[in-house]
Amino acid sequence: MKTLLRLKSSLQESVQDMLNGQMKMEAHSSSQYLAMSAWCHEQGLIETGEYFKKQAEEERTHMLKIYDYLIDMGGRALSPDVTDIQNDFTDLKAILEQYLEMEIGITESFNKMTDACIKAKDFQTVKFFEWFLTEQMEEEDAARRTLEIYELIGTELDGLFKIDHQIGKLKE
Ligand SMILES: [Fe+2]
Ligand SMILES: [Fe+2]
Repeated sequence: MKTLLRLKSSLQESVQDMLNGQMKMEAHSSSQYLAMSAWCHEQGLIETGEYFKKQAEEERTHMLKIYDYLIDMGGRALSPDVTDIQNDFTDLKAILEQYLEMEIGITESFNKMTDACIKAKDFQTVKFFEWFLTEQMEEEDAARRTLEIYELIGTELDGLFKIDHQIGKLKE
């Protein structure tokens, strides 16, 4: 099949690779949060299960935002394959700690990419990253809050039931 000649893209190859890498990271987060959602549902923690399902949906929209940017810039977007999804967890606390760690990892990734784009003088992509940097502040804050709720209520008596309810309220 004859390939269409594309207009030259101003997107540098190194930036394109980074953006594809970030699409993969967002897709991984989405699948990982869905696994956490399923585990919570299995444990009867239905509110937290729904909370993580919503997080999974959000991560997918992040991935698609990068996809749209790559397409709009005349670049090449690669559909990411997602591996290394953890489906078994020791307890809810382990999930919440992993959740915060993952969000901090995403923030670090955007900081690194923004720095690289400034050095490469790709100010358009720097501007594109602004939305994500603001979003990450909220994402980290939400993750930290779930851990606080866990610590404040504790797991004595009906603690887990209360924790589940309070985490569920965060998605409203
Ligand atoms: Fe994200
Ligand atoms: Fe996130």
